[in-house]
Amino acid sequence: MKHSSVRKELAWFSYAALLVASTYGQNSPGFKYVNPLIGSANGGHVFAGATLPYGMAKAVADTNEDNQGGFASDSTAVTGFSHMHDSGTGGGSSLGNFPLFVQSNCPGNDINQCKYMINDRSIGWLSNSVKASPGYFTIELANGVTAEMTVTSHTALYRFNFSSSAGDLKPLIAVDLIDLPQSRSNGTATVDPSTGRLSGSGTFNPSFGIGNYDLHFCADFSGASISETGVWMDTRAGTTPKTISVTSDGVNGDSTLSGGAFTQFSAPADGSISARVGVSFISVAQACSNAEKEIPNFDFAKTLSAAEAAWDKKLSVIKLDETGVDLNLLQTFWSGVYRTMISPQDYTGENPLWKSNVPYYDSYYCIWDLYRSVFPMLTLLDASTLSELINSLIDTYKHEGYLPDCRMSLCKGFTQGGSNADVLIGDAYVKNVTGINWNDAYAAVQNDAEVEPLNWSVEGRGGLTSWKNLGYIPTDDFDPYGVGPHTRSISRTVEYAYNDFCLAEMANGLGRKSDYQKYIKRSGNWQNMFLADQTSTVNGQLTNFTGFLQPRYPNGTFGFQDPTFCSPLLNPDSCFLNPGGHETYEASIWLYTFYAPHDMATNVELLGGSETFISRLLFLHQSGLLNIGDEQAYLPVFQFHYGARPALSAKQSHVYIPQDFNNATGGLPGNDDSGAMASYITLCMMGLWPVPGQSVYLITPPYFQEVNITNGQTGKTATVRNVNFDPSYEAIYIQNATLNGKPYTKNWISHDFYAEGGELELVLGSTESSWGTDVADLPPSLTAYKA
Ligand SMILES: *[C@@H]1O[C@H](CO)[C@@H](O)[C@H](O)[C@H]1NC(C)=O
Ligand SMILES: *[C@@H]1O[C@H](CO)[C@@H](O)[C@H](O)[C@H]1NC(C)=O
Ligand SMILES: *[C@@H]1O[C@H](CO)[C@@H](O)[C@H](O)[C@H]1NC(C)=O
Ligand SMILES: *[C@@H]1O[C@H](CO)[C@@H](O)[C@H](O)[C@H]1NC(C)=O
Ligand SMILES: *[C@@H]1O[C@H](CO)[C@@H](O)[C@H](O)[C@H]1NC(C)=O
Ligand SMILES: *[C@@H]1O[C@H](CO)[C@@H](O)[C@H](O)[C@H]1NC(C)=O
Ligand SMILES: *[C@@H]1O[C@H](CO)[C@@H](O)[C@H](O)[C@H]1NC(C)=O
Ligand SMILES: *[C@@H]1O[C@H](CO)[C@@H](O)[C@H](O)[C@H]1NC(C)=O
Ligand SMILES: *[C@@H]1O[C@H](CO)[C@@H](O)[C@H](O)[C@H]1NC(C)=O
Repeated sequence: MKHSSVRKELAWFSYAALLVASTYGQNSPGFKYVNPLIGSANGGHVFAGATLPYGMAKAVADTNEDNQGGFASDSTAVTGFSHMHDSGTGGGSSLGNFPLFVQSNCPGNDINQCKYMINDRSIGWLSNSVKASPGYFTIELANGVTAEMTVTSHTALYRFNFSSSAGDLKPLIAVDLIDLPQSRSNGTATVDPSTGRLSGSGTFNPSFGIGNYDLHFCADFSGASISETGVWMDTRAGTTPKTISVTSDGVNGDSTLSGGAFTQFSAPADGSISARVGVSFISVAQACSNAEKEIPNFDFAKTLSAAEAAWDKKLSVIKLDETGVDLNLLQTFWSGVYRTMISPQDYTGENPLWKSNVPYYDSYYCIWDLYRSVFPMLTLLDASTLSELINSLIDTYKHEGYLPDCRMSLCKGFTQGGSNADVLIGDAYVKNVTGINWNDAYAAVQNDAEVEPLNWSVEGRGGLTSWKNLGYIPTDDFDPYGVGPHTRSISRTVEYAYNDFCLAEMANGLGRKSDYQKYIKRSGNWQNMFLADQTSTVNGQLTNFTGFLQPRYPNGTFGFQDPTFCSPLLNPDSCFLNPGGHETYEASIWLYTFYAPHDMATNVELLGGSETFISRLLFLHQSGLLNIGDEQAYLPVFQFHYGARPALSAKQSHVYIPQDFNNATGGLPGNDDSGAMASYITLCMMGLWPVPGQSVYLITPPYFQEVNITNGQTGKTATVRNVNFDPSYEAIYIQNATLNGKPYTKNWISHDFYAEGGELELVLGSTESSWGTDVADLPPSLTAYKA
């Protein structure tokens, strides 16, 4: 999912030399290179604050602008500190519920002179004060308050230091019953006058889905005695009552009407006050008990070091020989590894919707973005978590009726294209991820392929009757079986075809012969939208390339959409989920015409044979038709392999890194989308690009002399080593290769390499060679390549 106005001028605004020197990193030398602020400007929307791997609590300062992930480096003011976030979302902001805001005193010692409403309390921050590292975030506000934060799974711990504040110290900490999207309907907050505890609940909307969710919080304080407690609404506050309830249709009929509760303190003994905020989807009681269990003594140092240890352990799976590699690339790489594991979020024990012993994960933002790189990356780095994620998806299917595409805050999110959970499950299946009941998984995936939901804008597939009878999704479809936006006929067709291929792979492995036949046939449906004599004019020039996908009516007649439409060159913002959307999603026909990852031999032939295929693919990259900041652009970087030019894939990968992906706060070309950009970076740099849904990695040289990955399920280590490694990246072309000492000429390798371990040695040179270019060396394809 992509939106967002990009602000280029701040792209290189940086926080050089501000990273905290951490005590951790004994296991992973990569720890010190992680900079959570990468992607926090220029529309990257990453979550830059403190979180555990897959943690539910995510604490950060929320800013007034571009706050999809809470904090934006290119913002001017902070509106509060909140405890849950999503990372890299493309649409609106998400979560950010129950922000605390902190003032060192109220002018005239009058609580009514403190600031409460968002625009009133919003306060500048000191640009050099922000520091972030795994599990930690700090910022100093213009009122002299310095905030530091760390987290456990369901609890945020803040330390507010008032030593630089002017005037008498009588700190007031208030909570607002609001979230970042300002979606709250009803809400309640209470303050306990004896302990100062603030607690409460609210009902909110998900940021890219339907329905609503309830969330609860429980905030306790330590470090100062209590002087006043009370509630506030709008711009006014009072010491009675101690509870307040608000709804969306308050006096102004305005859902942004703020209200909440506060605790005011005497001057703290050591100049600081700690705030511990537990969150829960179940109840206030559970929010409080989560906090009490996880952080019993408000011990900041101990909580932080546990968070750092958790990250250190996750990062330790990869070992690099980093000799000669520029700091920019090391930071870009390790921060990418880190961001891949921020979301999805582990809400196990926090799901009020159904009872089950299966773990529950949420915040898939969205699988359409994530299946291409995040899940293949987790297969390599964290297969046991991937196994839990997949079990959670299957459990969600069992209780909600369908596998999700987007899902956040316990709600169904919008489906963007195909039912791409099918690909991530198929991917795990062919890679032998353990701990999954594959018959259940198969039922979930087959359900997508066979049973059209009433509301296919939030699950499953639309137009299934046409899909089965016509073999494509027609434009202007007659579909009385469900409702959803009748757009994206081309992108849905190519994605449904690949979804069916993944189902076929599973059917094959599970011995379901007739299902295999059926779905393998359907996987060819993308060809039904190919119009062989369609031409394309780019920048006023007729190109030499003929044959593009085109929309097709139910009667078989082709319609027309300019093949460049919705590329960056022509109406780039016209293909979203709006009802007036067109026949492709977030990209052009130019791009979607290359999408047949399971049958690239046919694709290459349809596009004119390997030579023309290669020049067309080069043209796609070089003519401005491709936006590397949108996830469908990933695979085309490496598809030169299918045209027998693996060297061009390596070259293309270096075109985008570090030009478009680097260590600046604005160092991402688009929204990170829950780690999609992050995992693209790390997979590119590790050198073996996974084709999602297949046991296939397209071989390009790592950006390092040597990369080791230790498989979490088998304990085996896979080593990729570059001989003649050149950190200036002139010599990036494979001359020849050996696998475990024997010559290896295929330009791809299967997952067995990562599962069983081994040594792939690549000899590099500065010119393209004939390595990996024979027909027998090309990656798997359903139909055979022409010699
Ligand atoms: C508060 O900040 C001051 C100034 O940076 C520092 O000296 C002091 O140790 C801090 N106090 C706490 C409790 O962290
Ligand atoms: C708020 O209202 C919704 C119905 O709109 C209800 O489901 C929910 O339980 C209420 N939440 C609270 C905290 O009162
Ligand atoms: C990778 O693993 C091999 C074999 O275990 C070992 O010899 C080598 O030192 C490792 N490389 C790195 C960078 O850790
Ligand atoms: C990014 O990398 C460059 C080296 O290429 C380095 O000079 C700079 O300090 C790095 N930026 C940050 C924020 O660390
Ligand atoms: C998965 O397991 C099967 C059967 O044990 C084996 O043949 C295959 O090579 C394995 N695949 C991978 C990618 O490990
Ligand atoms: C179906 O999805 C649409 C969003 O496209 C939503 O507005 C509507 O409420 C949903 N209907 C049901 C019954 O869930
Ligand atoms: C098309 O082919 C002609 C003749 O071979 C060549 O001059 C022209 O540059 C080509 N145009 C493109 C866009 O490749
Ligand atoms: C097929 O349907 C389209 C759209 O309704 C129409 O324009 C076209 O003429 C039809 N073709 C035939 C052969 O009837
Ligand atoms: C691999 O290629 C290099 C560079 O061209 C060459 O020196 C070496 O002899 C080759 N090794 C094999 C086994 O072909």
